[in-house]
Amino acid sequence: MPQVVDDAIRQTIRELPPAYWDFAAADTKEWTHGYHSYPAMMIPQVARSLIAIIQQHQRRIKTLFDPFMGSGTSLVEGMLAGLAVTGSDLNPLSRLLAQAKTRAWDPELLRITTDGVLRHVTQVFISEADWPRFDNLTFWFKPTVIGDLARLKKTLETIVDPELRPFFWVAFSDTVRWVSNSRNAEFKLYRLDEARLAAWNPNVFATFQKVLARNQAGNSRLFSRRTLPPVCVHDYNAMDLSRIPAESFDLLVTSPPYGDSRTTVAYGQFSRLSLQWLSLPAEELPFAPNKLDQAMLGGYAATALALELPSPALGAALEAIAAVDRNRAQEVLSFYQDLDVTLGQIARVMKPGGYQCWVVGNRMVKKVRLRTDQIITELSRQYGLVPVVNFTRGIPNKRMPRENSPSNQVGVKAATMNGERIFILRKE
Ligand SMILES: C[S@@+](CC[C@H](N)C(=O)[O-])C[C@H]1O[C@@H](n2cnc3c(N)ncnc32)[C@H](O)[C@@H]1O
Repeated sequence: MPQVVDDAIRQTIRELPPAYWDFAAADTKEWTHGYHSYPAMMIPQVARSLIAIIQQHQRRIKTLFDPFMGSGTSLVEGMLAGLAVTGSDLNPLSRLLAQAKTRAWDPELLRITTDGVLRHVTQVFISEADWPRFDNLTFWFKPTVIGDLARLKKTLETIVDPELRPFFWVAFSDTVRWVSNSRNAEFKLYRLDEARLAAWNPNVFATFQKVLARNQAGNSRLFSRRTLPPVCVHDYNAMDLSRIPAESFDLLVTSPPYGDSRTTVAYGQFSRLSLQWLSLPAEELPFAPNKLDQAMLGGYAATALALELPSPALGAALEAIAAVDRNRAQEVLSFYQDLDVTLGQIARVMKPGGYQCWVVGNRMVKKVRLRTDQIITELSRQYGLVPVVNFTRGIPNKRMPRENSPSNQVGVKAATMNGERIFILRKE
């Protein structure tokens, strides 16, 4: 019987028009998806289509899980499809975004509060004692910007109802990013060059107002849905999902990191300035913002190059990398060792017969392509997962590390991605 469903899923995907999965002209910011930028976001329409295809063939599914939820794309889409959604991420900024984006706030309350904030903020008195205390504050922000951000923060803390605050913190966080001295087009923290910095004079309040207006429009759309399914957001490391009961979820839709944060996407670095400004409660910040990247998958290199994982695709890639750079091979191994642990954890919390939809980037290291789709498929067999389907999507409009600097030298670039792989597994 499950094989019949697998066949039906394969057939549905086969019948889709060519380039269906590219979504080149799609609005990726609809609903609440445009609240805040985030590195390597999933295209909402990809999550939407995957969920719809599984729902078409498994009508009784009720729950969705994303252990690497990032900005919460699959949670929002799961919720819109009527599923109870659970997500988790080590990054506190991710949790703030996912919580705010999956909640429908009363638009009238937001409007009244926004008016109050914008009226109040220009009259707030602050001194340097109100400036946040973190290293390099004045390196990343101009003094006038620091003053205005501090005013805004104080206003939000004083006049916004704590219930509404997450919505406003998200807009504040996006504002922090836009008005900082960092190059906004990049996810890693690079300071503007001297010439651009000299001319850099961002308006904090106008930026905040613009972000709020955009986010309120997204919220109003969600609010029109009235009843929304339950949402659960956790701070679990995907390598330890022991607090989630076994066989909890019907469907997984996720995109894991492409590799360790140091050499691929530095989620911690991307979030650092926001987290330093937000001063979240200590329980929300088990790691200092500048230590977050080490806590993620592959944060520490393996101490030896002994492959004990059942993945021929990984073995072949590691051998080829080790032939030119053994240390690099060890770093790569450590990422997949951690990923393997998460696969076991994820398998445990999925219901038998449940489908797992993965969207991955297959990066290059030392000119060797790491077939993460194949590696996950091979590793998952030991946890009772069978492959259902595997295909490519082009990436016309996704900000992701199609190019990076493998040698970490500014200006030295190499192609690292050639599209994404989407694949579906089923738990036996
Ligand atoms: C590719 S992003 C997910 C993007 C997401 N699909 C979206 O649309 O925004 C991968 C996420 O995995 C998280 N992550 C990395 N290592 C983790 C770990 N060990 N446990 C939990 N989350 C982790 C990162 O913080 C990041 O948010």
